[in-house]
Parts: sequence; C-alpha cells; structure tokens
Amino acid sequence: MTTEPVDELKPHPETSSLTGTPILEVEDLKMYFPVKSSGFLRRTIGHVQAVDGVSFQVRSGSSLGLVGESGCGKSTTGRLITRLYEPTAGRIEFDGRDIANLSERELHPLRRDIQMIFQDPYTSLNPRHTVGAIVGAPLAIHKVVPKDKILARVQELLEIVGLNPEHYNRYPHEFSGGQRQRIGIARALTLQPKLLVADEPVSALDVSIQAQVVNLLQDLQREFNIAFLFVAHDLAIVRHFCPEIAVMYLGKIVEIGDRETLYARPNHPYTQALLSAVPDVKQAKVGGRRERIRLEGDLPSPINPPSGCRFRTRCPIAQDICARVEPPLLQVGPTHKVACHFPGEVGKHPEKPITPRLLGVDDSGMPDLAAGPATDLPTGPGYSDTWFDLEHNTMGRA
Ligand SMILES: Nc1ncnc2c1ncn2[C@@H]1O[C@H](COP(=O)(O)OP(=O)(O)OP(=O)(O)O)[C@@H](O)[C@H]1O
Ligand code: SF4
Ligand SMILES: [Mg+2]
Repeated sequence: MTTEPVDELKPHPETSSLTGTPILEVEDLKMYFPVKSSGFLRRTIGHVQAVDGVSFQVRSGSSLGLVGESGCGKSTTGRLITRLYEPTAGRIEFDGRDIANLSERELHPLRRDIQMIFQDPYTSLNPRHTVGAIVGAPLAIHKVVPKDKILARVQELLEIVGLNPEHYNRYPHEFSGGQRQRIGIARALTLQPKLLVADEPVSALDVSIQAQVVNLLQDLQREFNIAFLFVAHDLAIVRHFCPEIAVMYLGKIVEIGDRETLYARPNHPYTQALLSAVPDVKQAKVGGRRERIRLEGDLPSPINPPSGCRFRTRCPIAQDICARVEPPLLQVGPTHKVACHFPGEVGKHPEKPITPRLLGVDDSGMPDLAAGPATDLPTGPGYSDTWFDLEHNTMGRA
C-alpha cells in the first residue's frame, strides 16, 4: 500500500493572519507569447495570453502557493519572476526594486537572490557534470568563495540537503530521483537566496519520497528564512507548505487568501471544484468527504479566451453578466480576494450579482447610467484594511 505523502509531512504552525514584509510584489503582470503563422513570412497572428494581469505578494521567509490546472500559467509566472522571461507588461518588485525590465547585466547580481527549483530532476541536471561541478558552478560564476574553498562549501551544502558529502564527484545518473532533486535544491541554495521559485518540486518524485523532500524544503525555509513561490498540482501539499494560496485559471488569479479561509470557505466556483476533487484528509479521517463538483469541458484556449469571466464556459452558476463583464479580484475578507460576480460558499452563492454597483452596470452586465460610474476598486497586490462586506453588500470594513 502506498502511503499518502501528506500523512508523513511534519506539522506546520497554523497561521490565521499573514504578516511580514513582502520581499516580492507583483502587479498586473502579463506575458503574451506571440503566435506566428506558418510559411515564409511568419507573421504574428495572435498571442497566447499565458499570464494576464496577475498581482500578488510573497512575504519574507513565507510561502505563496500557486495552484490551477495544467496550462493556466503557473510556470510562466515563476519564470517571469526569475526573469527567465521578460514580461509583456507589469511590475515585479523584488526587495524594493522593480526588476521587470532590467537587462541581463543589471540582473546578474540579483540572480544570487532569486533561484529556481525545477520539476524534473532528470532533465534539470547536466548529465556530463559531476555533482560537485553542478552545485559549485554558481559559486564560481558569482565569485563568492575563493576557488580553494568551493569544494568544502559544496560538501557542506550536500550535507545540508541530506546527501553524502563524499559523493561530490559522482554523476547525476548515479542518484535516485529523490536524491537528484536534493542536488537541485543544493544548487538553488548555493548562493543563499532570499526567494526560491519551486515549480512542482516534488511532482516527478515517487509518492513515498515526496514528503521527505517537502519536509527538507520546510526545514531549509525555517533555517535560512527563504521565501517561496511554490507551484504545485497537489493541493494537500500546497496546503501544508503555504500559509497563503493563489488559484489561477487561464492566466488570471481567481481567488487568493490565507490557507484556512481558502480551504475551509472557498468562494469561487473554480476553487470549489478543484478542492472537491481532493479527499479532505481531516474530514476523511472522521468519515466525511466533500461532495465532488465536476467541471464540464476542457480549459479554453488562452489565445482566444472567453469574454467576461474566463471561467464562464465551465461554471455551473454562470449568468448573463459573466459573459459581458470581467469580475474584479475583489477583497471580501481581511486576507481573502475573489474574482466572481456571485461569490459565496458552496450552495450559498447570491442570486443576484454583487458587482453591478461597483462596475456601473445592471444585473445582466449592460451599462447602467443610473448605477453611477464604476467605483475605483483597489486592484493592487496585498490586502487593504477595508473590503467588500458580502453580508451587507457594501464596501467597508466588516
Ligand atoms: N514559450 C512559450 N511560447 C508559447 N506559449 C507558451 C510558452 N510557454 C508556455 N506557453 C503557453 O502558456 C500557457 C501557460 O503555460 P504554463 O507552462 O505557464 O502553464 P502551467 O500552469 O505551468 O501548466 P502545467 O501545470 O502543465 O505545468 C499554456 O497555454 C502554454 O501552452
Ligand atoms: S463570474 Fe460568473 S462565470 Fe465567473 S465564476 Fe463567477 S459565476 Fe462563474
Ligand atoms: Mg508548469
């Protein structure tokens, strides 16, 4: 019998509030990949809107989880933050400095502070280099340690990630998948980064070793105060690792909030469907299970996304307004935002949309002069101390 990784994870402290200064702040980030025609001229005939207006913060020493179906833009977001891509638009403020449009030369010193752990430990390590060369390379490139001290530092790092320090002259193929991922983690740690982008760091690993690697990451985070952007499919692991979680759908964040609220009281129909597919560990132990909400159809194309709310073609409660107007990512609690015209807990979605007065439209989404101009809604990253009170249907502090 396989053991569920979540059973073997170390306990984490419960967090009801999100505190700490942001080390990373991302605002209205966009990445549109050009789609070219075939043939000689190869004209641009459209764009893949892989990431389309995403805003969030990652607090120093904390972790933000990024979840959503395959193709929703999680890896692209991670690659933008590590500046493997230059964004089409938006702000990426790292440690107080906008790095969105820095040149490669300007980025060089920052590369020490932001590192990435990749999904596949089989392809992310050069098979022709020894472990010592792989883990030591960043030290040599950034000239942070004298040459004769590199080996000692590499051995220290191997020990930190639970590998035998004497194995520095072995090649990646001599290690198991879990060990290779530890090598990737050691390489990411070499320069003592402040932020780690972990893109599905355990999904290529055997279930039996996933927990060990997650526990290692958690220990490292505590010891070295590293902030994480943690991309993962496995909602149980994200829940364990991240005090704050963002749910993406077709290039946009549809819901973001603190772990407790997001898992216990998701307000977006998409989050509700995602969570209903995961057996709830705590509930399962007492014999309970969430009722499964099945999503119809496939993820639409990000080249030509649906009008209004991008989720409307699969949403079980969509109405006319959803096709006409895009719902804003509205703060509905102290640390909770949701992008839906009908936000509410499962089975408790309001009958009428809550957004018309804010957007200057009527209940079907048509412009409504009587409704007055649209309210200036805060759309930036982070949380404000005023929010939309769903109970009383007004903007204000609950
Ligand atoms: N370099 C690229 N050129 C063109 N399109 C791209 C490129 N990289 C990603 N895309 C497209 O952008 C969208 C988002 O891709 P991304 O890899 O970010 O998704 P993801 O959420 O990480 O998915 P997965 O869970 O499968 O890893 C997809 O439609 C993908 O096909
Ligand atoms: S805005 Fe409409 S389509 Fe989008 S999630 Fe909410 S109810 Fe569904
Ligand atoms: Mg990905």
